[in-house]
Amino acid sequence: MIRTGASFDKYYSSLNKSYHKAFNKYLMLHYPFFNKKGESLEQRQINLTDFCVSRLEQIQNRKVLEIGCGNGTQSLYIAEKYGPAHTIGIDLNVQNIELAHLLNRNADKVSFFVDDAHALDNVEDNSIDIIFCIESAFHYPEKDKFLKQVNRVLKDGGEFVIADILAKSLKKRPLIRKWKQKMFYFHWTMDQYMNSFRDSQLTITKTDNITPNIIRGYRGYLKWIKRKEIGSYMFYSSILVFVFIQVNLNLILLRRRRHYMVFTGKKMAA
Ligand SMILES: C[S@@+](CC[C@H](N)C(=O)[O-])C[C@H]1O[C@@H](n2cnc3c(N)ncnc32)[C@H](O)[C@@H]1O
Repeated sequence: MIRTGASFDKYYSSLNKSYHKAFNKYLMLHYPFFNKKGESLEQRQINLTDFCVSRLEQIQNRKVLEIGCGNGTQSLYIAEKYGPAHTIGIDLNVQNIELAHLLNRNADKVSFFVDDAHALDNVEDNSIDIIFCIESAFHYPEKDKFLKQVNRVLKDGGEFVIADILAKSLKKRPLIRKWKQKMFYFHWTMDQYMNSFRDSQLTITKTDNITPNIIRGYRGYLKWIKRKEIGSYMFYSSILVFVFIQVNLNLILLRRRRHYMVFTGKKMAA
């Protein structure tokens, strides 16, 4: 079992807390996807989920697994909006899964487990119709192992959507190496993904580069945080600074060094 570093766990815990303080609710943990002007952060995150679902043939009455489900908000949204037979969400972060249990009002149809994408100990062979892995795989050091697990748990003909942040090149950057290790960042390139898919029973049916939609997704981000919903002025200012740094760092990386890709595919019969 791969253990996560403290910074990486703390990052998601503080993101959950900040979202709750700023919006009075827990949000999904992924980037925003632009559909139209004036949307909230929550709506833009939903847009990304809806885009990923739109790539699939059918989801209703199917058995769904979300790998790296974060605080469970996305699994719960999919379960409610798209009517799969059952949804399982797994995540390595214990606090995220505790939160997912708290938010789950639909325990007959949605289950959450602490599990590792490299092992999927809680998921039986050939038991899943659809896998989502949205913005989580860049944290996996051994993506080949993860893709083997996708292959193991999917039924023949089962579909998957992997939305991931890819590196444009494998250039080493010694100055940020330590920070990347702490944050568990292991971005793959397009070639690495394609080689790994080629060596597996997983066949890609669609490849979407949605980097422009994500970059546009940040438009108007300063309006997302409402002064009146946040108690003290000090806290409001600190959130603004945190968001400003975070968003601009993401934008620089997306423009210069990374692609945001969505791979949709199927498990072929052996
Ligand atoms: C950016 S969040 C995305 C969460 C969720 N998919 C969403 O879209 O809201 C990435 C998540 O991947 C999880 N994660 C990282 N490494 C993992 C692993 N090896 N196995 C399972 N989950 C992992 C993190 O704990 C975190 O919750």
